[in-house]
Amino acid sequence: MLSQETLQEILRPRPVRYFASTDSTNTEATRWFAELPLIASGAVVVADEQTAGRGRYDRQWLTPPGSAIAMSVILRTKRPTQNVTMIGSVAVAEVLESLVSGKVGIKWPNDVLIEGKKVCGILAEAVWQQQKLAAVVLGIGINICVDFSGVELPYIPTNLSDHLPAPMPRAQLIRAILDKIDMWMEQPADALHLAWKTRLLTLHQQVTMERGVTGEAIDVDKDGALLVQTADGKIERFLAGDVNMP
Ligand code: BTN
Repeated sequence: MLSQETLQEILRPRPVRYFASTDSTNTEATRWFAELPLIASGAVVVADEQTAGRGRYDRQWLTPPGSAIAMSVILRTKRPTQNVTMIGSVAVAEVLESLVSGKVGIKWPNDVLIEGKKVCGILAEAVWQQQKLAAVVLGIGINICVDFSGVELPYIPTNLSDHLPAPMPRAQLIRAILDKIDMWMEQPADALHLAWKTRLLTLHQQVTMERGVTGEAIDVDKDGALLVQTADGKIERFLAGDVNMP
């Protein structure tokens, strides 16, 4: 069971706020930062349930009680949001690789998949103060044992518990992910880019992007943009978006 005490103990000395239920941990983290702009970088909000969890493009993100990890880390950094998003996906992928036997990878830009199914979504949001980037809130949602029956999603979801030999306490998983995030925050951008790129399942696949652009995902650039070569040899660059692949 998650609780303020358990998390505080395992994450010490990191500032932690735990909610049995809240609208969205990203929203809570943004409120916390507004209250305390000098809060230690790495402070984390965790919730057992989110009633208005947000995904990319304002899509709904399901976090029913007792069945997922919903956490948001306040990072006082000048790193661009895309870079922080990469840190989130690489950190989660590394932790999952050490736990599951199935293939873990990243679907561009930052979904973490196990055996081709989405187990984790990342939503990094910039916090601005006087037109300056003051912090980035890195939101991470991991399905542990979510009941997806009757839920329509634009992807195939999976639950981490289906890939683990034995249940693992959520607090321990949170700790392992936060340790990886701390480590990657200290690394240069090119090392992070390489760790992200080598896990990308999207590269060298036939993909369909928005506006019906179809072609081969040939590379990603330094900003994380996906380069897609169409049948006529043109290269189109996508900085964000949804990708469909076989
Ligand atoms: C996506 O794949 O669309 C991103 C999903 C991000 C969900 C997480 S759960 C914790 C944090 N709080 C939110 O409201 N969203 C993120």
